[in-house]
Amino acid sequence: MKHLLGIRHLDKGQIDDLLGLSADFKLRVVQDRPVPKLTKQVVGMLFFEDSTRTRVSFEMAAHYLGLKTANFSASSSSMSKGETLKDTILTLRYERLDGMVMRHKQSGAPTLAARHFGGPVINAGDGQHEHPTQALGDALTIIERKGDLEGLIVAIVGDVLHSRVARSNAWLLSKLGAEVRLVGPRTLIPSHSAMLPGAVYYDLATGIADADVIMTLRLQKERMAEGMLSSVGEYASMYQINRESMRYASPDCLVMHPGPLNRGIELDDVAADGDKSAITSQIENGIFVRMAAYYSVFSNEGVNLAAAAELV
Ligand code: CP
Repeated sequence: MKHLLGIRHLDKGQIDDLLGLSADFKLRVVQDRPVPKLTKQVVGMLFFEDSTRTRVSFEMAAHYLGLKTANFSASSSSMSKGETLKDTILTLRYERLDGMVMRHKQSGAPTLAARHFGGPVINAGDGQHEHPTQALGDALTIIERKGDLEGLIVAIVGDVLHSRVARSNAWLLSKLGAEVRLVGPRTLIPSHSAMLPGAVYYDLATGIADADVIMTLRLQKERMAEGMLSSVGEYASMYQINRESMRYASPDCLVMHPGPLNRGIELDDVAADGDKSAITSQIENGIFVRMAAYYSVFSNEGVNLAAAAELV
């Protein structure tokens, strides 16, 4: 059974192949050329946590591939009557869904689903664990603008502690040869950061010095314990990416953000909307990497994701 549960357990060849397939799908879509179809399967869209970008791009990816989707609303499902996640997954299995896309606030929920569902599961972001398709879309965006990831300095700035985007990107970028830096206040960098690839910097100017890419992260206030930040204003004064702070980075640095943005906090309008910003490309490329993910889990012609080490 093929799943896409995270980046950590993929090897460089699998990531390169997913990015190559994504780039091929993008060319076909923008040039209005034929796209291989997945017309036999139905994929369940299980979003237990809010989403704009990820949900719509999984829908658009399915649309381009001719793949049918079945929506699932957690709030109006029988989970509101106490049904467990495992029993919900088993129910959807016997409703004959062929695969599922899952976002959940609990780390590991898609892995649990993969153990019980019997079909492919794609992780659309779980807790503080991983957001593999976000990292793939980010990598595709960097490669389009910079040619290659090998040797690039990528500074991941902000709330690394709560960020599944930071984790998936740190794994992916390091596997593909980038120098990863984790930059933020001490309270928002994981204390076990040695388990994540990347050097830690608590000072913004040093952390983004000569960076080719500044990847800003959303302050995840909903996941923060009280007292983690003295104030959002103080965070912005020390870590905001703006015209001033961008001067420390490479003159042709890219500014990225996975969204949703806290505009005026993690970055200002100049950084978010200026010529260095790659944010709109990140959004659009999300569609093509999700096409590659669907095609790889549902067909024998996509990328070989068979080694699901995280299920062991
Ligand atoms: N980047 C991201 O996951 O955005 P959404 O929460 O809107 O899907």
